[in-house]
Amino acid sequence: MAALRLENIKACVFDAYGTLFDVNAAARAEQAALGDKWLEIADIWRLKQLQYTWLRSLQKRHADFWQVTGEALDFALASAHVSDPALRERLMNLYLTLSAYPEVKATLERLKSAGIKCAILSNGTPKMLAAAVENAGITSLLDGVYSIEEVGVYKPDPSSYQMAVDQLGLEPAEISFQSSNGWDAYGAKAFGFNVVWCNRFDQADERLPGTPDGQIKTLDELPAIIGAK
Ligand code: LAC
Repeated sequence: MAALRLENIKACVFDAYGTLFDVNAAARAEQAALGDKWLEIADIWRLKQLQYTWLRSLQKRHADFWQVTGEALDFALASAHVSDPALRERLMNLYLTLSAYPEVKATLERLKSAGIKCAILSNGTPKMLAAAVENAGITSLLDGVYSIEEVGVYKPDPSSYQMAVDQLGLEPAEISFQSSNGWDAYGAKAFGFNVVWCNRFDQADERLPGTPDGQIKTLDELPAIIGAK
């Protein structure tokens, strides 16, 4: 199969959670307190967090991602019969400093030195994103950090993707969008972006509109796809 190549890309826009930042890092750091159910709790936390974004968008009852993340954590802890307010607070604070995946910084540096603009488009609140970006040491590598709070509706609503187009002042065809969340990759492709699905977790293809242009395993495969060294 011919290697994927995207032409005329001027900007790379990245999803944040699961794509740049490891969403399991918070629960992993509290393994001792959560016990051997830590990964199950982390999975329920993430799943509920996403469900609540979609449900609230459908209900037109928006609450920001910090609130939704806390409510999802409450559900996950209650499901595991864990009742520990101090632990809950520690887990929420850890969410502000989730570690970046190992290849993130070097990939952004390569894109930047090839003249490609780099930005984040995420459900996270501006405060959550600023904390994670700073903690990862990638602030100076980003041309924009766009939070859906500006439009008040979660991905994959098309207006959330449109915000990146408006902010960057580019055409969707000039943008390559990267997400590790399959539903987000498909949503972004259906919107009109070029999309590279960073399928870190070997997820099966979604049965949704908008098949991504290609898949990679880690982000360091991206520069070659868009013709950056
Ligand atoms: C985000 C979630 C979807 O960063 O991962 O937008």
